[in-house]
Amino acid sequence: MANTVLVGAQWGDEGKGKIIDFLTESADVVVRSQGGNNAGHTVITGGKKYVLHLIPSGILRSGKICVIGNGVVLDPVSLVGEIEGLKAQKIKVGKNLLISDCAHLVLPYHRELDGAKELAKGKNKIGTTKRGIGPAYGDKVARTGLRMADLMQPEVFSAKLAARVKEHNATLKAMGAKPVSFKKINEEYLAAGEKLRPFVTNTVVFLHEMLKAKKEMLFEGAQGTFLDIDFGTYPYVTSSNTTAGGASTGSGVPPNRIDSILGVMKAYTTRVGEGPFPTENDVISDMLHGMGREYGATTGRARRCGWFDAVSTRFAAMVNGIDEIAITNLDGLDTMAAIKVCVAYKLGRKKLDYPPSDFRQLADCEPVYIELPGWNTSTEKCQKFSDLPKNAQAYVLKLAELTGGKLKIVSVGAHRDQTILL
Ligand code: IMP
Ligand code: MG
Repeated sequence: MANTVLVGAQWGDEGKGKIIDFLTESADVVVRSQGGNNAGHTVITGGKKYVLHLIPSGILRSGKICVIGNGVVLDPVSLVGEIEGLKAQKIKVGKNLLISDCAHLVLPYHRELDGAKELAKGKNKIGTTKRGIGPAYGDKVARTGLRMADLMQPEVFSAKLAARVKEHNATLKAMGAKPVSFKKINEEYLAAGEKLRPFVTNTVVFLHEMLKAKKEMLFEGAQGTFLDIDFGTYPYVTSSNTTAGGASTGSGVPPNRIDSILGVMKAYTTRVGEGPFPTENDVISDMLHGMGREYGATTGRARRCGWFDAVSTRFAAMVNGIDEIAITNLDGLDTMAAIKVCVAYKLGRKKLDYPPSDFRQLADCEPVYIELPGWNTSTEKCQKFSDLPKNAQAYVLKLAELTGGKLKIVSVGAHRDQTILL
């Protein structure tokens, strides 16, 4: 395996965590480069279930180094909780975890602001995870953020925190929300900072040492292409670059050191939160929820579900440079008699091959469907591509062809061994 970026080609929750865990076997270093604990990666291994929010899923395999890069926003208290939770599940977290000293901190006022802003938006709310991600990136871009390096210098941290608390409390009060306590945050964060100190370093230098030593890297994308701050369904997006370029800016590994991009997509589509979703469909939603599938790993919300949308995955292939494709959750369609796939949009009289950039136009798009026959057989025990029912083979090959990439992985269940490599 070369240095690979793994990206979500839809609206997040494509099953990236599982594919990363699978690919980590042949990687040396796993890097997270954007997002925060809004992400929720579920990995099932050895009969145990792990839900990771900030720590790369590579942590579950021994001998792998996990890096939280500069592009991530992290809540130190919640990260300490995640580390302790893993340790309680007998997972080793020590020299195998590195945290960038440039990563920005998510603070309690960011969470309060996230909630207050959503409330103020009323029916136009984004449907965020309320983890404070947007306001934390907002401070970063406004050059008023606090970073891991600040937290490592208690006096610097306290002074900056005092100024930020004053400023953000004024906003919170004006919005009718509850102000936060400097004293409480200062104590909690400094205590968490001491626990994180052994992990904090200049990860750029470390990653370049790894490059020199010809170690193989896997960049673990969080969220998905259509939640990207630039290319997603703005403003119904998250606040980071979830697309392939974010792997470079969020880690300090330059583009010419990245060899391939793997796009992960579900065999159908899901989205959490508000915003346009052209192929959303009640039949497939009810079926999947009826099977107990498609509830969020971070918020427990029922995900919105719809047919596979090749118009959007085609755009995802373009903007990310997807060479290879992993299709997940194929088993979710095992009981469907016929399956629709969106191959174009109609906007008024125009036929579109790519999604419009404006969310209002996207909301007005009518999907143009083709219908493929289902297979009415369980695929959960299939080990090789040839074990899949013929109709299932034809279905996934069609999705890859419409998207424009080489099919590499088909996933037919949550377990490591339910993964077909082509
Ligand atoms: P935020 O990232 O919490 O600001 O939420 C912004 C939008 O991104 C909302 O629609 C969320 O539901 C969505 N979102 C954020 N993280 C994830 C994720 O890991 N999976 C799926 N959707 C996400
Ligand atoms: Mg998720």
